Amino acid sequence: MAMRVRKAVLPVAGLGTRFLPATKVIPKEMLPVVDKPVVQYAIEEARAAGIEEFIFVSADGKESIAAHFSAHPVLENALESKNKSAELKLVRDASVPPGAVKVVIQREPLGLGHAVWCAKELVGREPFAVILPDDMVLSQTSCLKQLIDAHAQVGGHVVAVEDVPREHTSRYGILDVASDDGRLAKARGLVEKPQPDKAPSTLAIIGRYILDPSVFDELDKHTRGAGNEIQLTDGLNQTMPRVAFHGLRFEGTRYDCGTRVGFVEANVAFALANPELAPSLRPLLERLLAK
Ligand code: G1P
Repeated sequence: MAMRVRKAVLPVAGLGTRFLPATKVIPKEMLPVVDKPVVQYAIEEARAAGIEEFIFVSADGKESIAAHFSAHPVLENALESKNKSAELKLVRDASVPPGAVKVVIQREPLGLGHAVWCAKELVGREPFAVILPDDMVLSQTSCLKQLIDAHAQVGGHVVAVEDVPREHTSRYGILDVASDDGRLAKARGLVEKPQPDKAPSTLAIIGRYILDPSVFDELDKHTRGAGNEIQLTDGLNQTMPRVAFHGLRFEGTRYDCGTRVGFVEANVAFALANPELAPSLRPLLERLLAK
């Protein structure tokens, strides 16, 4: 039986340059989608999957991310004394138990593989999750929970995948598929951001991973890959075939908040999924589109 997954690593060290000037002072991960910071969706998805420890790989100046998940006694007392129980619940729901959040600083932007490697000592030798908060998933069941359930069956590395148009393969880690039952695809290799004519398939990794700790042994080597960065995809590739690698076609829809259009799309999609907002938003969107 696979070991229980208790820890999640969240790389959040990026400068968010695509979202300037909004991200001059505010971390990109703290920008709201509808009424919650992007990173809170990631933490909620992880908690719904039973994750107990959250490791942010962060950068100086982004302290507000961890602060958002701590208790705020001054605000809580003020809301309590004014009987604002709904608001108090919103504040408390955003907190995780003391000690559940850890922060490690990534000093240089050397790539996703390096960011994950920075969490090595805090993760230890147990399977762990990686969540890239930029990828938001709207689903019935927490996407990470779906991965953890699949991991309990097959072990090794299990990542979320989706079929992408061939012209987009150069944006993702792509699976070289050995076998595929339509839900789980077993890979024999991975390629980071291949050109469409070089891509071994169109099955792309999105920002949710359950990883076997043996990936750290490869990331220790600090080998540079695509874009001269230390790539997580390359580290995982090196562990195969010692460690099984499966891609799970999860239930749900992914929104890429790493681009401005994707960010706006996520806002609209999450608002339309909210029964409080959808009835008034829908006619408004129709009116805008009719212009
Ligand atoms: C990273 C990974 C890539 C993966 C993608 C998912 O790329 O390197 O393999 O497919 O996340 O969002 P990035 O988007 O950071 O360039």
